[in-house]
Amino acid sequence: MDAMLVTGGAGFIGSNFVRYALNRYPDARVVVLDALTYAGSLANIDDCVESDRLRFIQGDIRDKGTVEDAMRGVDTVVNFAAESHVDRSILDPSSFVETNYNGVYVLLEAARRLEVKRFLQVSTDEVYGHVPSGLSDESDAFAPRSPYAASKAAADLLVQSYYTTYGLPVLITRGGNTVGPYQYPEKVLPLFITNALEYKPLPVYGDGSAVRSYLYVEDHCSAIDRVLRTGQPGNAYNVGTNCEVNGRDLADRILEILDRPANLREFVPDRSGHDLRYALDCGRIRSLGWSPAFDFETMLNETVQWYVDHRPWWQEIRNEGSFRAYYRKQYHER
Ligand code: NAD
Ligand code: TYD
Repeated sequence: MDAMLVTGGAGFIGSNFVRYALNRYPDARVVVLDALTYAGSLANIDDCVESDRLRFIQGDIRDKGTVEDAMRGVDTVVNFAAESHVDRSILDPSSFVETNYNGVYVLLEAARRLEVKRFLQVSTDEVYGHVPSGLSDESDAFAPRSPYAASKAAADLLVQSYYTTYGLPVLITRGGNTVGPYQYPEKVLPLFITNALEYKPLPVYGDGSAVRSYLYVEDHCSAIDRVLRTGQPGNAYNVGTNCEVNGRDLADRILEILDRPANLREFVPDRSGHDLRYALDCGRIRSLGWSPAFDFETMLNETVQWYVDHRPWWQEIRNEGSFRAYYRKQYHER
C-alpha cells in the first residue's frame, strides 16, 4: 500500500488504527489530519509520531485547502474524524452537522478531484436506529434517532452518492460500540471504569435495560483494514459482535472486577430518545474472511487493565475544565 490519509487519527479508534497500520505494514506511510478537538490528542499516538512513516497535520476536515494538501499523493483515505458522542449531540447538535456532514462533503470533493483509489467512511450501527429484535443488515432503511446518528446517516448517503454519481471508489464500515485503549472517558465503558477507580458513582441511564453489542478496538481496526483491501467499492459493511450487554450489568461487572462496592451503581435520568438496542448482521464482512478475535470478558478485562495502567492519561483529561464542565451539565444539571 502507498500512502494513506487517516483523518481523526488522534482520536480513539483512529489512533488505534494508525498504530495498527504502521505495525502491520512496514512499508505503510500514514498522513494524519486531525483538528485536535477536546476528543483528540497527540498523546494518543505519542509512540507513533517519531516514525518517519508518519506525518501529522493539525487541521480541520472542513477546510478545503488543508484537506487538499493532506490528501495530495495519497491513494487511500480513511475518515474517522467526527463528533462522536450522542449525549453531546443532544446538548448541542451544531458541530455534529458541521463536521460529520459538511466535513465529509469537503473530503469527498477533494478525493474526487485528486482521484484517490479508495475512500473509506467509518460509520456506525446507529444509522439503523434502535432494533427491538432481530439484526440490522446493510440494506435496512436508515432510522437514526439522535442528532449524532442522523449526521452519520446523512454522511453515509452522501458518500454513497459519490459512488453512484461520480464513480468514486467508496467503502463504508458501520461499527458497533467500540471499546479499548485511548477511549475518551465520556463513553460508557471508560466513564464507568474511571469513576469506579475514583470511588465515584456509575451513572446508569433510565432503568439500565438498554443493550449494546461491544466490539474491541483491535477487531474494529482489523475489520477496516480487511474492507480496505478486499471490500467491494460501493458497499457498506457492518462490523460487530453478538456480545450484548445492558447498562445495569455492565456497571455491576466493572464494580466486581475492580472490587468496588456494588452500591456505587446509581440510576440517573434517561437519555432523551435513548436507543434501546443495536444489533448487527455481519454476514457480509464475515464473507471477506473477517471475524472478531475478542469475546466480551476478554475485551472488558483488557480495557479495565489499560485504564488501571494509564492513570495519568485519563486523569489529565478528567481534570480539564472542559471535561468537568461537560460532566456537570450532563450529570448534575440535566
Ligand atoms: P473520537 O471522538 O475519539 O475521535 C474523533 C477524532 O476526530 C478526534 O481526534 C478529533 O480531534 C477529530 N476531529 C473532530 N472534528 C474534526 C474536524 N472537524 N476536523 C478534523 N478532525 C476532527 O471518536 P471515535 O470514537 O474514535 O470514533 C471515530 C469514528 O468512528 C467516528 O466517525 C465515529 O462516528 C465512528 N464510530 C465510533 C464508534 C465508537 O463506539 N466509538 C462506533 C462506530 C463508529
Ligand atoms: P455510549 O457509550 O454513549 O454509546 P452509544 O453511542 O451507543 O449510546 O452509551 C452506551 C450505553 O450506555 C447506552 O445505552 C447509554 C448508556 N450510558 C449510561 O447508562 N450511562 C452513561 O453515563 C453513558 C455515557 C451511557
